[in-house]
Amino acid sequence: MNKIGIDFGTSFCTASWVNPKTKQPEAIIFHDIGMPKMPSVVYYGPNGLMVGMAAYNQLENSSGMKQEQRHQILQSVVMSIKRHMKQGQHFFLPEGGKVSHEEIVAAILHKIKEQAEISCFNNQPVEEATITHPVVFATWQKEMLRKAAEIAGFKKVQLLEEPVAAALGYAATTSEKVQNLLVYDFGGGTFDVAFVQCDNEGQYRVPLDPEGDAFCGGDDIDAALYDRWEQITKEQHNRTIDINPSNCDIGFKARCRKHKEQMSLFPQYEFSEVLPPPGFHRVEMQLARTDFDKMVEPIVDKTIARTERLLKRVNDEGHKIDTAIMIGGSSRIPLVYERLKGILPVEPRKVMQVDVAVALGAAIYNPNGQQANVKHRPTFCIYCGLKHSTADRYCTRCGKKNESFIELK
Ligand SMILES: Nc1ncnc2c1ncn2[C@@H]1O[C@H](COP(=O)(O)OP(=O)(O)OP(=O)(O)O)[C@@H](O)[C@H]1O
Ligand SMILES: [Mg+2]
Repeated sequence: MNKIGIDFGTSFCTASWVNPKTKQPEAIIFHDIGMPKMPSVVYYGPNGLMVGMAAYNQLENSSGMKQEQRHQILQSVVMSIKRHMKQGQHFFLPEGGKVSHEEIVAAILHKIKEQAEISCFNNQPVEEATITHPVVFATWQKEMLRKAAEIAGFKKVQLLEEPVAAALGYAATTSEKVQNLLVYDFGGGTFDVAFVQCDNEGQYRVPLDPEGDAFCGGDDIDAALYDRWEQITKEQHNRTIDINPSNCDIGFKARCRKHKEQMSLFPQYEFSEVLPPPGFHRVEMQLARTDFDKMVEPIVDKTIARTERLLKRVNDEGHKIDTAIMIGGSSRIPLVYERLKGILPVEPRKVMQVDVAVALGAAIYNPNGQQANVKHRPTFCIYCGLKHSTADRYCTRCGKKNESFIELK
């Protein structure tokens, strides 16, 4: 069965496969855009569904449109579904009709599947996937992901924690021996930090429960930047960005994301944006890196506090960290490196695979335990309630196969 690894991200998805010629994991280049990162964006337009860059481009295109047309588009675009998905909930389309959150996730996974088949598998079906998730994902969220993967057409699905996948991906692409690794993953919507160990037989395990935050990522920084624009817009033009003061204009917020990414490169940045209709209003903002740092500090500090908590447990249990890697797009923010450097026993590493390490690890993950042997939290059989490990798919008391387990929090 052809298999891929998928990093289903809040902002971007990446995917990977094991190239049979090199036997190495490689990032899949999405055929339609020629890039290894696909925006996790879906657009339900009058002419049908668009997923990925095509959907994202609808936001960009909308900036020059008339108010009504623009609103119609913005109300048909779904972003950051990973962060907002809820059981039994729907996205209501402006022209009537609704789609469940699972169906939205399935649309994204289906696009990845289809692109992988074109790019890597000679149009042969890909039916197996390892899909990663944040450590803080609850059982119901994992089940939603699994169900979405089934709707997308995958017949066999494994789920894997993101930092474990990142450790596997990093280890597979470095010549150094990776033994006691700290993975700091600061993405678009979520934050994870985990201590991953590799034993002498090459098995990876997570000896301590990782730390994470399901609502801490680049989206929060975009929101902070949006709020700053809102303030300036009120001062300069006596209006709000969206004509409705309680609305957030997601098209404008996407512009905030672009500007934020530039802030990591320059010490001082000048923004200039045309506000959404009505009227033609230009707003300007100058932001020095020091101001930007102040803006993002509370968000970055949340990740640092969680990392310190994990470091304390690592220490208390007598483990030692010999490598620390920074994963996830938001880890490119210079303040993150500065803060991490201040608390870690080793220099944090900026790695080449910052965007694709998780997907690379997912592609090589072997659920039978050859590469990964993850210590999970205690769980219970969904049939008879016996406490055991998620590694035991068949309950040792009732013998039934557990597709999902109830986690003890
Ligand atoms: N140079 C940069 N400076 C600041 N932020 C950046 C930079 N490059 C990317 N980002 C941000 O990184 C985030 C995307 O990172 P990534 O692709 O790792 O997230 P994700 O995997 O989609 O999300 P998650 O893992 O949280 O579900 C976005 O918020 C993006 O704006
Ligand atoms: Mg991620």
